[in-house]
Amino acid sequence: MNSNICIITGATDGIGKTTAVELAEKGFILGLVGRDRGKGKKVVKEISNLTGNNAIHYFNADLSLMSENKRISLEIKNKFPVIDILINNVGAAFFKKTFTEEGFETTFALNHLSYFLFTKLLLKNLNKQCSRIVNVASDAHFGAKLDFSDIQGVKSYEGYPNYKKSKLMNILFSYELADRLKNTSTTVNCLHPGFVSSKFGHNNSGLKVILLRIAQKLQAINVKDGAKTSVYLASSTDIDVISGKYFYKKKVKESSPESNDIDSRKRLWDITEKLLEDLS
Ligand SMILES: NC(=O)c1ccc[n+]([C@@H]2O[C@H](COP(=O)([O-])OP(=O)(O)OC[C@H]3O[C@@H](n4cnc5c(N)ncnc54)[C@H](OP(=O)(O)O)[C@@H]3O)[C@@H](O)[C@H]2O)c1
Repeated sequence: MNSNICIITGATDGIGKTTAVELAEKGFILGLVGRDRGKGKKVVKEISNLTGNNAIHYFNADLSLMSENKRISLEIKNKFPVIDILINNVGAAFFKKTFTEEGFETTFALNHLSYFLFTKLLLKNLNKQCSRIVNVASDAHFGAKLDFSDIQGVKSYEGYPNYKKSKLMNILFSYELADRLKNTSTTVNCLHPGFVSSKFGHNNSGLKVILLRIAQKLQAINVKDGAKTSVYLASSTDIDVISGKYFYKKKVKESSPESNDIDSRKRLWDITEKLLEDLS
């Protein structure tokens, strides 16, 4: 593909950062979004030094806040009026129930609302000739079911189960968006990166994190391998016209029955739009 401008969220560490390194090596112009300006600047320097690519730009925003998604999308559009690839990669698990200052449960806000709003805000600026949206989901979605009467899990919050639900939302969102964009030249795909030895989960404390760190050391793949499917979906000509699919190890994989439920896709879309409308 001729595309060359790629925006990556959650790009200062883990899978997002390694995806950035790999795409920088391929000569893409990158817009990296992170929440720590100092770290972001260091990452840009590091990737430039490593790859010799100087077309790497940093945008600072706390993506769990919708106001920040709005602000940063404007900055990005000013810098890049036409975007070829958007990789929604940011994500975290919060073992304790917390709320953002905008009143949303934090897992739901960061892992789902941000993907939804950020994408919608950048949609008009995606290249009309050919563009891609890549959403980093997870096999953690298997077994998750949404409760539409308590979509954020306010009444029944449990850390990992709510993370699983947020990753199911990533897939429902990807499939619904792919369907809505089917008559355009923008494709939408999502993926499971594998169990990756990143900083994922380290924002929590207690026994669960100790066990997670041990499992990451013993069983997880490295971030370079974890970034492979994101890089593939962003850059390979193999999937120029493939849209609305879930990938693992660069291959289409069947996602859960719940993620294929068309009614759930539409209900999630409507609820999300309503929540965001109520905010503004
Ligand atoms: N690791 C796995 O085994 C695994 C498996 C399946 C799916 N995934 C998915 O892969 C994606 C990336 O995860 P990872 O493993 O690379 O995690 P990670 O190592 O924790 O990296 C997360 C990245 O997101 C950034 N970030 C976190 N909160 C943010 C916020 N509020 N605003 C802006 N940026 C924020 C982090 O910034 P800082 O650098 O400041 O921390 C970091 O750059 C997530 O969507 C996750 O659900 C991971």
